[in-house]
Amino acid sequence: MQTAQFDERAVIGHFEARTRESAELFRKAVEVTPGGVMAGIKFFEPYPIFMKKARGSHIWDVDGNEYVDYLLSYGALVLGHGAEAGRKAIGSVLESFGTTVMGTPTELEVEYGAILRDIYHRGGLVRFTNSGLEATLLAVRLARAFTGRRKVAKFEGHYHGAVDRLLFSYSPPLGGAADVESPAPIGDSAEIDGAMLQDSLVLPFNDLESTQRLLTEHARELACVIMEPFEEGVIPGEMGFMRGLRRLTKDLKIPLIYDEVKTGFRVRLGGATEFYSVTPDLTCLGKIIGGGIPIGAVVGDAGMMGLLDPRGDKRSRVFHSGTFNGNPLSLSVGMATVEELSRRGNFDAVRARTDDLKRKLSAELSKRQFPHQILGEGGMFNIYLTDKQVRNYREARTSDLRTRRLLDIELISRGVYLKPENRFCLSLSHTADDTGMTREKFAESLDSAANPN
Ligand SMILES: Cc1ncc(COP(=O)(O)O)c(C=O)c1O
Repeated sequence: MQTAQFDERAVIGHFEARTRESAELFRKAVEVTPGGVMAGIKFFEPYPIFMKKARGSHIWDVDGNEYVDYLLSYGALVLGHGAEAGRKAIGSVLESFGTTVMGTPTELEVEYGAILRDIYHRGGLVRFTNSGLEATLLAVRLARAFTGRRKVAKFEGHYHGAVDRLLFSYSPPLGGAADVESPAPIGDSAEIDGAMLQDSLVLPFNDLESTQRLLTEHARELACVIMEPFEEGVIPGEMGFMRGLRRLTKDLKIPLIYDEVKTGFRVRLGGATEFYSVTPDLTCLGKIIGGGIPIGAVVGDAGMMGLLDPRGDKRSRVFHSGTFNGNPLSLSVGMATVEELSRRGNFDAVRARTDDLKRKLSAELSKRQFPHQILGEGGMFNIYLTDKQVRNYREARTSDLRTRRLLDIELISRGVYLKPENRFCLSLSHTADDTGMTREKFAESLDSAANPN
């Protein structure tokens, strides 16, 4: 039996009728910035919604529509919008420091750095940056300096920020990506040239045998292996694969980097590192650890991190700087967020609410015979509309992306906000009423698709 099909014109018509002010603002925005957005990811067809205010789990757009928010700024706001802990922290920075930034070390750096180190890499060291991409970039630079090698291996379909060194084979066309066991690196951005791709190796996620063959073959050139320990933040590495990869990279003396910008404090408090009980050499963090203020961090092996010591030998040290690194505002709000989330029962509450929503949405999809899988651990998940098991990028691409996009746009028109085709993230502010309403709107959205039978 065929599943219901959305009528694209009807879905877009419904969306446009409710979001006229956003359409108007978008027309102005394209005259100011390319494509009307300040980050490529913020765009979707027919135009992005312009939001105006938010509180807890809810967000309001410029047309006055109210939504339950599952975007949460791509997962950054695990306590919800405008949480009390964050508000207090902002106030206390201004009160106690009298300013937002001083360009000097502060006690907060020591305190918050120690918290992250103790959770993610006992005995390691920490450096703060201003974004996730700065963290991944720093980790790769450290690995290159530490090993004296250039080549970077990453997994097909894994994202590590908008930086040329890592922007390959994140969303390659399947036809051009060569064979499954040894995918060719493909640039994701126009400036990535052949020379950059020579320093790049693509690995197949969840395929230990092919990964072992490729790493062994290139071991002498490889500076590191960087990975999202849950692909797209939600597709788990199989336990044998994750443990095998750790063993292999140790044996071959290739530093292993976990990019936990999505999964840190979301999959578990200790991220994927805790979930798998596997410790990489370096871990990159971002998003949640700033509680809604820009931040990133690299945490890891003291030997590698020690290369950043400005007292070190000039010939072997890694230069790293940033005017706003470790600024009191990011650290204070981030630390308050992590402390609140770590309070007894809070992380489990987010997780339980998320599991409940997963069950509800899965039940509605099953009722209507939509083949699907809902993947993700802790406080975030994604829906794949496919009957194939999803273990890697190529299997994820078997999902019916047209239906998913139109379903998400229909959800937006009915008061459930997420970036179309993106993950659902929940917060401590999401209530049973929110998930109940979401189930209702999800069912209505599915029913708005015409059934061809
Ligand atoms: C896994 C991963 N790494 C790195 C980044 C880049 O982080 P930022 O957007 O803070 O630069 C992201 C952003 O979504 C991410 O998901």
